[in-house]
Amino acid sequence: MIECYDIIKQYGKDCKALDGISEDIKDGEFLAIIGESGSGKSTFLNILGMIDTKDSGAIMFDGINYDDLSKKEAAQFRNQKLGYIFQNFYLEPEYTVYKNVEIPLLIAGYSEKQRKVMIENTLKKVQMKHKINQLAKNLSGGEKQRVCIARALVNEPEVILADEPCGNLDSQNTQNILQILKQLNKEGKTIIMVTHSKSDAAIADRCITFKDGKIMNEKTV
Ligand SMILES: Nc1ncnc2c1ncn2[C@@H]1O[C@H](COP(=O)(O)OP(=O)(O)OP(=O)(O)O)[C@@H](O)[C@H]1O
Ligand SMILES: [Mg+2]
Repeated sequence: MIECYDIIKQYGKDCKALDGISEDIKDGEFLAIIGESGSGKSTFLNILGMIDTKDSGAIMFDGINYDDLSKKEAAQFRNQKLGYIFQNFYLEPEYTVYKNVEIPLLIAGYSEKQRKVMIENTLKKVQMKHKINQLAKNLSGGEKQRVCIARALVNEPEVILADEPCGNLDSQNTQNILQILKQLNKEGKTIIMVTHSKSDAAIADRCITFKDGKIMNEKTV
């Protein structure tokens, strides 16, 4: 589904954040990415998610080359095909849960009626429907992360990119989030999750390790 060829990303003169990453991610796969701090995990995810650009190499998504998309096409592609979960939430604190989850649907142009149904159904999935009218700033960490997942999901993307989705959570909330991701994967979503934790990575089908911008070893978990 996603094919990466020799991706290189350099910051300044000395820092090769990605030093030739080639990797295939299959449709419906749950891939974990682990590796030391600074090894390039977030950079890789951001490039896959079109949040950042590569210096060279190629990415194909279902046969579409990222480089062939215009800015407008890329924005649309991102909105429709990719859902992104960040470690630090990035919710709008003064917005309600409803309004936060609504953002990608507004971009995609759904009607108010469609939006309401989609938002309610998605919040049900992450067990947050009861907090639909609460301001994001008043949620707990685990609740915020579930709203982030809802926001990433509401558009029915094909791929979920998660950068340390449990990084700020206690063990109970971590388990909740991992179970939600696992369930989404069972329902057919492709999931790419960056994590510091080997035990969190064990929930994935496959785990790759980054070191100094390269992929070290590959093993099936
Ligand atoms: N915007 C930037 N400008 C300069 N250097 C950057 C930038 N973003 C990342 N880097 C550097 O690129 C390298 C890879 O960073 P990246 O954030 O991908 O690491 P990571 O594996 O996600 O680390 P962590 O586990 O700490 O999140 C690091 O050395 C980092 O300092
Ligand atoms: Mg990172």
